[in-house]
Amino acid sequence: RTHNIALLPGDGIGPEVIDAAMLVLEAAAARFDFALKTQRYDWSCQTYLDTGRMMPADGIERLQTHDCILLGAVGWPAKVADSVSLHGLLLPIRKQFDLYVNMRPHRLLAGVDGPLRAKDFDILCIRENTEGEYSGAGGRVHQGTKAEVAVETAIFTRHGVERILRYAFEKARQRSGRLASVSKSNAQKHSMVFWDEVAEEVAADFPDVRMTRYHVDALAARMVTHPETLDVVVASNLFGDILTDLGAAIQGGLGFAASANLNPAGGGPSMFEPVHGSAPDIAGRGLANPAASIWAGAMMLEHLGEVAAAEGVIAALEATTAAGQTVTPDCGGEASTWEMAEAVAQAIR
Ligand code: NAI
Ligand code: MG
Repeated sequence: RTHNIALLPGDGIGPEVIDAAMLVLEAAAARFDFALKTQRYDWSCQTYLDTGRMMPADGIERLQTHDCILLGAVGWPAKVADSVSLHGLLLPIRKQFDLYVNMRPHRLLAGVDGPLRAKDFDILCIRENTEGEYSGAGGRVHQGTKAEVAVETAIFTRHGVERILRYAFEKARQRSGRLASVSKSNAQKHSMVFWDEVAEEVAADFPDVRMTRYHVDALAARMVTHPETLDVVVASNLFGDILTDLGAAIQGGLGFAASANLNPAGGGPSMFEPVHGSAPDIAGRGLANPAASIWAGAMMLEHLGEVAAAEGVIAALEATTAAGQTVTPDCGGEASTWEMAEAVAQAIR
């Protein structure tokens, strides 16, 4: 089997963590008997400075030819406004390929000390990635006066809410059979009451899944106090954004958090990425933790049907953090990005 991958290393530590992830994924390919055909696209803030665009005009068509996209990070805030780098590359990819599921596993790996020292932290967050509070509908009037008003309208469609809930129910069915549906229907009486109604409708199709509805504030507290009672969590764009940063913090920080942007219906490539940004403060020094990009790579392998290889990559990563000798400074070690990736690759071999 050969899988055709587009690599978008991006800016800052992006290229470092993508090289590290590919070292590990190539080891997995050799061990589990498949091949990765990669094409590297060096689209970045440098591209913008050189050409006035983050990616070429036919960038989306070129990405369309691949099975998956593995992205490092984009952003060079000293030279290019973040709104430009985000709107020029990441957002068009999410939109054009209708990547409506943003999935983030938050699990504390052995040997990693999260701030709570919770041993039992293992949840899967599923965030709606295309509409809701981030639809961009709204505006401002009487700007700069005492009468100024800003309106930001959240847009929830039956199509959008139902498909993210269905995906979450499927995932819950594959895991523990428990699903937490997040809303705020006591305070938001239109959109969130609608969310809850659709959740109940979809639940009727999944009698084997036990769904519990939570308000987002209570769920945030529960993630800290009783995380072992949670498994799959599904939330809107804004609520999911906030809850996944909390999840990343509890699992040991941005060095570990990985993310998949999926269109389960297919028709275009899904995109896998570490949650962190380009980290200009540590770029070029081998300090970046490659765990997040390696984990993103494992999610990509799973999506490609290489389930045994994906599990092998995660097991090797966890063996490396558990041993604790060859880890980067953010997890208490002295290894470089490449040395830690090499240790993970060695554990796979
Ligand atoms: P950031 O995630 O790049 O860095 C935040 C802090 O975490 C920094 O102190 C950094 O050194 C540390 N950190 C991040 N990843 C790490 C890793 N793998 N190992 C060890 N430490 C790590 O967020 P920041 O500084 O707010 O943004 C920097 C740039 O990245 C901006 O241009 C921003 O727009 C962009 N960005 C891009 C994202 C993407 O491409 N998906 C996501 C988030 C930010
Ligand atoms: Mg966020």
